[in-house]
Amino acid sequence: MKPLLEMVAVTAGYLEDIEILQDVSLQVRKGTIAGLIGLNGAGKSTLIKTIYGFVRPKKGKVLLDGEEITGLSPHHLIDRQVWFIPQESSLFPYLTVEDNLLVLARRLKANGKPLGRAERSHRLEHVLERFPALKARRRQQAGDLSGGQQKMLEFGKALLAQPRLCLIDEPTVGLAPLVAKEIYRWIETFAEAGTTILLIDHNVREVVRFADYIYVLSLGRITAHGPREDFQSDLHTQVRQWLGINL
Ligand SMILES: Nc1ncnc2c1ncn2[C@@H]1O[C@H](COP(=O)(O)OP(=O)(O)O)[C@@H](O)[C@H]1O
Ligand SMILES: [Mg+2]
Repeated sequence: MKPLLEMVAVTAGYLEDIEILQDVSLQVRKGTIAGLIGLNGAGKSTLIKTIYGFVRPKKGKVLLDGEEITGLSPHHLIDRQVWFIPQESSLFPYLTVEDNLLVLARRLKANGKPLGRAERSHRLEHVLERFPALKARRRQQAGDLSGGQQKMLEFGKALLAQPRLCLIDEPTVGLAPLVAKEIYRWIETFAEAGTTILLIDHNVREVVRFADYIYVLSLGRITAHGPREDFQSDLHTQVRQWLGINL
């Protein structure tokens, strides 16, 4: 099947003479979950930021469904139904849960046109039905929610946006294990509904459990990749070391 997202030999960095990503190529096939794992500082967030137009590649290309999107701004990518859930918050803390969703709804387009009022409220209610904890707090300020609930609202925004591709950076950092479990379940249902996902996670065990295809990034280079089975049956030596399994 054709990849929905492709990076071709991408080199990128924040400063002129320092490369963070070196010759990175990867493909995410439609309707699948790709996992990207690697140690702190490997360049995982930089990789997503390079896809999402925050960092412009110095070399190489980024393609969405075969069309070049290299260096396009986040603004344009949202219109192409690419969504990004950053590790940090993207919420407006002084707006209510509902208004955080409505501000986004007013910004979204379908078939090149802004969403109508009926569609906006339909999507809002759909998100609130899917996340009862948010529904119960729809008139509370986002900044007053717990960390887990704030993350749910981030995922609620993603659901509202109905992207074809969703980039997710370290969704469970700092959250309680039970909340993390719920987030992984949610990512799986999001994928089952047809959204293609590129997931960055330090939680190697979880990624190996449910990503269809896995990439390992070390010091800005892809050093291993393969289908989940490759990593489950005979975990790559490096991954074993990260997991603390003695060889
Ligand atoms: N805004 C920035 N300016 C300069 N260097 C940065 C910036 N953000 C990250 N880096 C550097 O890029 C490297 C990779 O960082 P990052 O992509 O955040 O790694 P990861 O997400 O895998 O932990 C690190 O050496 C980090 O210090
Ligand atoms: Mg990171």
